Amino acid sequence: MPTSCLCNMTNFAINVDNVSFSWHENAQVLKSCSLAVPEGEFWMLLGANGSGKSTLLRLLTNLLTPQTGTITMTPPVGFVFQNPDRQLVMPTVGADIAFGLVEEKLPPLEVRYRVREALTAVNLLELERRPIYALSGGQKQRIAIAGAIARHCSVLLLDEPTALLDADTQIELVEQVQNLVKSRGITALWVTHRLEELNYCDGAFLLEGGKVVQQGDPQLIKKKISH
Ligand SMILES: Nc1ncnc2c1ncn2[C@@H]1O[C@H](COP(=O)(O)OP(=O)(O)OP(=O)(O)O)[C@@H](O)[C@H]1O
Ligand SMILES: [Mg+2]
Repeated sequence: MPTSCLCNMTNFAINVDNVSFSWHENAQVLKSCSLAVPEGEFWMLLGANGSGKSTLLRLLTNLLTPQTGTITMTPPVGFVFQNPDRQLVMPTVGADIAFGLVEEKLPPLEVRYRVREALTAVNLLELERRPIYALSGGQKQRIAIAGAIARHCSVLLLDEPTALLDADTQIELVEQVQNLVKSRGITALWVTHRLEELNYCDGAFLLEGGKVVQQGDPQLIKKKISH
């Protein structure tokens, strides 16, 4: 008989365990930083300018390697940048999403199905043939998210995706990601400075001094930051 079965059954799709990273000697950005996002939940990451949020996301996407500690995530992982102009590379919406599927070597019909499925998920199917330059900022961010959905990403990482958007488009985007997380079982980690966005997530992390100093209830994090 096992002595204790009251184990925590939560599965985490994003796990950062004691990660340290410095860009330069004597300037450690992350200091034994740990965080974990439960599968199928929408969490946000907050912290002052320069606190290391983007560095942590770059570590999560393998663009950087931690100097100590480990990172585990449920693949595939999708990433949405602050500035979509650095992410969308093809001339049209449909071509851009299809381009993200090249590595998977899917049959053309499956690619077409995935592109349309992803555009439907972000309510932009009518833009399939639209040139990228003719999209608004909010539409570009949704196309970047559609790219991740087309790849059937389990984890979605977003670095200040609303930074360049006006207030209405900002709330539309955060609501849409909240819905996608709930309807498709995606796990999302969203970096932001905008406290009103905390109303849409399941939990939040506050990064300070290279580690998470508070986590959990988004409203408590909001309170801490506003004081
Ligand atoms: N490419 C780089 N080379 C050297 N130092 C860097 C580089 N990128 C970031 N840093 C430094 O690492 C620290 C953390 O930066 P990071 O961009 O991760 O912060 P952030 O929390 O995302 O800030 P912000 O809210 O302004 O986006 C800062 O001191 C920054 O100057
Ligand atoms: Mg940043």
